[in-house]
Amino acid sequence: MTETLPDLAVDRDRFRRALAVHAAGVVIVTATSGDTPVGLTATSFTSVSLDPPLVSFYVDRSSSTWPWMRTAEHFVVNILASEQAELAARFARKDIDRFAAPTRWNRGPLGQPVLDDVSGHLYCRPREVIAVGDHFLVVGLVTDVSVRAATRPLLYHQGRFGRFAPHNP
Ligand SMILES: Cc1cc2nc3c(=O)[nH]c(=O)nc-3n(C[C@H](O)[C@H](O)[C@H](O)COP(=O)(O)O)c2cc1C
Repeated sequence: MTETLPDLAVDRDRFRRALAVHAAGVVIVTATSGDTPVGLTATSFTSVSLDPPLVSFYVDRSSSTWPWMRTAEHFVVNILASEQAELAARFARKDIDRFAAPTRWNRGPLGQPVLDDVSGHLYCRPREVIAVGDHFLVVGLVTDVSVRAATRPLLYHQGRFGRFAPHNP
């Protein structure tokens, strides 16, 4: 979407450089379109509400995955572990079948694609989709979770993947 920038809006490149200093956790959002698995890497994941349990992510309006994902009745937020940088890069590529080997995944109880070896899964039902700027805000109701104990998160910072190092290990 193109929108005339108000005089107050910051320059795009400076905005991007400022955002790059924010470290973010990395997720892959998965769903099915018919029976076909779809998914994309996202750092825009956020928890929204405890009661009811809500989470959100933002998806670019130009995403070619989103038109398939938006009709899904369920989606899964796969929270990536530190050793899954290659998987994150894979789910941001357009020229491959993201679910082909070496991607390891299974079907969840409702047929949703569930990625193996992640730190956690959040099983969601879409609750709201709101157009915001050049993205859609997707809010999901969390219906179930699974957590793999003692995993370190994958982080994204300054255009690179990395690990979390606690001050007091
Ligand atoms: C680290 C990282 C974070 C990303 N975060 C988002 C995001 O929050 N929202 C989004 O729409 N795309 C995000 N992307 C881009 C998507 O993963 C994907 O590349 C893009 O949607 C193009 O593929 P598609 O046409 O299948 O959607 C991210 C990519 C990377 C590598």
